[in-house]
Amino acid sequence: MSANNGHVTVVGSINRDLVLSCRTLPERGESIAATGFETHNGGKGANQAVALARLRNSVAMVGSVGTDSDGDLLIDALVSEGIDVVGVTRSNESTGLAVILVDNAGDNMIVTNQGANAALTVGDIDRTSETIRTADVTLVQMEIPLEVVAAAVAAAAGTTILNPAPAEPLGPLVLDHVDYLVPNRTELGTLAGVATPETEAEVLAAARNLGFAGTVVVTLGSHGAVAIIEGVIKARTKPPLVAVIDTVGAGDAFCAGFADALAGNASLPDAMAWGTACGAYATTVRGAQPSMPSRADALSLLPTVLILGTRE
Ligand code: RIB
Repeated sequence: MSANNGHVTVVGSINRDLVLSCRTLPERGESIAATGFETHNGGKGANQAVALARLRNSVAMVGSVGTDSDGDLLIDALVSEGIDVVGVTRSNESTGLAVILVDNAGDNMIVTNQGANAALTVGDIDRTSETIRTADVTLVQMEIPLEVVAAAVAAAAGTTILNPAPAEPLGPLVLDHVDYLVPNRTELGTLAGVATPETEAEVLAAARNLGFAGTVVVTLGSHGAVAIIEGVIKARTKPPLVAVIDTVGAGDAFCAGFADALAGNASLPDAMAWGTACGAYATTVRGAQPSMPSRADALSLLPTVLILGTRE
């Protein structure tokens, strides 16, 4: 993967993450004691922006934080990564917050308080439309209001990628402006209105149910990722075996790597392989933003990512 210098605009959430480690995730109604507590910078949008900056893109962030100290801290962190924060507004709501549980296997559960992320408006997109219009790639997630997601993808003139997380059903107002939809299996099920697809056949059937004309790239955790165009699998990747510590942010790292590669005009299989290397790296480091890979981090894993061919 050659060095990149794409221009990517990320429209999405900015959160402070409160992370509790626990031996196992609690059952419904169960109280458990944490084995550790850490705070990290997070938010799907900010995580993806940070990864894109570490992968050497010129990155602009559009989002919203509160006027509180968490808002100051998160903006400072983005600036320190070299990210343009002119599109980050301040709201009277408190800065977005995520409570995250991570178990000994690295699996997680996340509950967010949207806070200031919910205060992002279509007017904010209008104000930053030039930044979005001129980007090689616009990368959007769904921890912000849906009408803002729709406005952001409609404003883009370059490649658009939507990471529909957290998922809710999407109509043509959004989907008609999206080139690449990147859900995980659970999100794909929600988008398609079916139970979480477990097998490859179920993933294909759910993707066909979306009525989406672009490319669906489904992330499958330790099973890699699969790209589906017009109901047909066009490429698949398999990640390397790594020592998983914390899966929080792995999907964000995949999306950022995928966006980075597309900004550099990579082929679909190469972009998926690069995303897979980035996602695998993120599972080896604790915390969301701390685990976002640099180019060297992702390159160290790339040779161990398998690209599997087309399958009808
Ligand atoms: O994808 C991980 C992110 O989801 C966390 O950083 C948390 O803030 C939530 O947005």
